[in-house]
Amino acid sequence: MNATLERWSTRRAFILAVTGAAVGLGNIWRFPYITGENGGAAFLVLYVAFVLLLGLPVMMAEILIGRAGRRAPMQSLGHLAGLVGASRHWRLLGLFGAFTVFCILSFYSVVSGWSIEFLITAVNGGFVGRGADEIAAGFETFLGDSRRMAFNHTLFLFMTMTVVAGGVAKGLERLNNLLMPLLYLLLVLLAGYAATTDGFGAALAWLFKPDFSAITPLVVMHAMGHAFFTLALGACALMAYGAYMPEHQSLPRAAGAVAVLDVGVALLAGIAIFSVVFTQGMDPGEGPGLMFVTLPIAFAELPWGALWLSVFFLLLLLATWTSSINLAEPMVATLQGMGLSRGKAAAVVGVSVWLVGLLSVLSFSALAEWRPLFGMNFFDLVTTIPTEIFLPVGGLLIAVFAAWIMSRREAQAALGAGESGFRLWQVVVRWVSIPLVAAVLVAGLL
Ligand code: PFF
Ligand code: NA
Repeated sequence: MNATLERWSTRRAFILAVTGAAVGLGNIWRFPYITGENGGAAFLVLYVAFVLLLGLPVMMAEILIGRAGRRAPMQSLGHLAGLVGASRHWRLLGLFGAFTVFCILSFYSVVSGWSIEFLITAVNGGFVGRGADEIAAGFETFLGDSRRMAFNHTLFLFMTMTVVAGGVAKGLERLNNLLMPLLYLLLVLLAGYAATTDGFGAALAWLFKPDFSAITPLVVMHAMGHAFFTLALGACALMAYGAYMPEHQSLPRAAGAVAVLDVGVALLAGIAIFSVVFTQGMDPGEGPGLMFVTLPIAFAELPWGALWLSVFFLLLLLATWTSSINLAEPMVATLQGMGLSRGKAAAVVGVSVWLVGLLSVLSFSALAEWRPLFGMNFFDLVTTIPTEIFLPVGGLLIAVFAAWIMSRREAQAALGAGESGFRLWQVVVRWVSIPLVAAVLVAGLL
């Protein structure tokens, strides 16, 4: 890539591309189960606070670096550091981001593959007339079937890398933009249906009546990691998109719009899923299978349930597709920066992510008892450490770079919020966001 990148044609196109990256498994799969594991409402309060105090300012920091540099992440960082005589080693932050998304994509593809499986089952009417226990048992059986899971993982990664290699992400984004309102609509419908079930009151209480005694330093760290994950922050992935941002657009407004949409989707999914949990007397802390078991149960109760469920998994797949394209972009851009062609770079990334993803696949069968670190198996490790440690560390360095290292003139122009808007952003990043990430990381790790 070079300094004269093509810009997104409209402001809306930029917001929709970033929303496409943000809205994905993080909202519909990860948010409900991680909230369930961490005590409900108190966790939700922390997560929303982190979105506001860290997510928004750091999202602006990350995108403005890309926008000021107008290059791939590593090159933007190196270029901007050079302008102020800072160390060129800031480039390495781009490399760290690429490593982080590598880890994330390896499991993201596996879990997106679960959606493929569920889509196929739903289309075939496989959930019709099944009870909650039967659906839960079916999911367990599927987890143990490593060949099927590996097949779906392969298919999903192939879909992702083909789009990335062909440089046709924009075409897919257009489709995504057309269909995402339908996903919101389906979630609203589902939440509306949830309001008629017995578990609805308990679900609302679980989500919105905080019990602050549930909060420990570790819970705080989980909430912070999830805020970064769901907003796609801290891995230079949005930095890559910032390079294409149109000239006259307010970054704070764009970031605000993305955050509202992202949190909205998570809340709707949460309401729908926890209503099922409490109606069926299930355990909210049931873990990564939560969405996959609850939603088929909920849809089964609706008229034309099989049809709605199929549409839902199709839309979810589309949402995770655009997110995984965003996950792959920093790696492919980095390899391209090292001289590989786009096609070769995509192939190298695809094959290596695929291999590591197989370890996640096998974590539910052959490698279930292989616990390399902290008593966690590979899937648990790769869904935890990159999200809760690498993303916040990356976000911290991104914030330091944007608010302390970059030239003020460059940063202010790239934020596009005028003099006082810039000052406010800078004060918040310097004195709230940066110390907060550092404090939470230290407390959580101790
Ligand atoms: N934000 C995505 C989600 O919520 O599913 C996940 C993600 C995308 C994380 C891109 C990190 C990233 F760089
Ligand atoms: Na998200």
